[in-house]
Amino acid sequence: MSKIEQTLSIIKPDAVERNLIEEIKNIFTKNKLIIKDSKKIHINKDEAAEFYKIHQSKPFYNDLCSYLSSGPIVVMILEGENAVITNRKLMGATNPKDAEENTIRKLYGISIDKNSVHGSDSPDNAKKEISFFFKN
Ligand code: CMP
Repeated sequence: MSKIEQTLSIIKPDAVERNLIEEIKNIFTKNKLIIKDSKKIHINKDEAAEFYKIHQSKPFYNDLCSYLSSGPIVVMILEGENAVITNRKLMGATNPKDAEENTIRKLYGISIDKNSVHGSDSPDNAKKEISFFFKN
């Protein structure tokens, strides 16, 4: 069953640095995801650590937080039918090497760290991640 929902998307520093913001936004809008809100920000390492808290036990946590805070990012609320899954399909696998053709990470990702985009992995996490960056 399809339903209208929202998800959080982040364009990571590697993609912002390479001026890929419009290309990536076009992929979302061509695939029926509406960009309800969008802002370019530069978060500090503590904020990145809070955002990625779910990964705090992982060996890559410290590098991940350093990376997300290393330069400007674009955070967006995407809305559409099954937005969480739709966005994850458009992003492709976490490691660009494993991502399917024409996914964002296959097209633009450099490595598992510099994989150009983040997207919420479930509707519950989407709500949490949206409220982290967009306070009403
Ligand atoms: P993202 O979807 O933003 O969620 C967590 C990020 O950790 C992931 O994308 C990757 O960029 C990064 N990462 C680094 N190493 C790994 C790993 N071994 N497994 C999964 N994610 C990793």
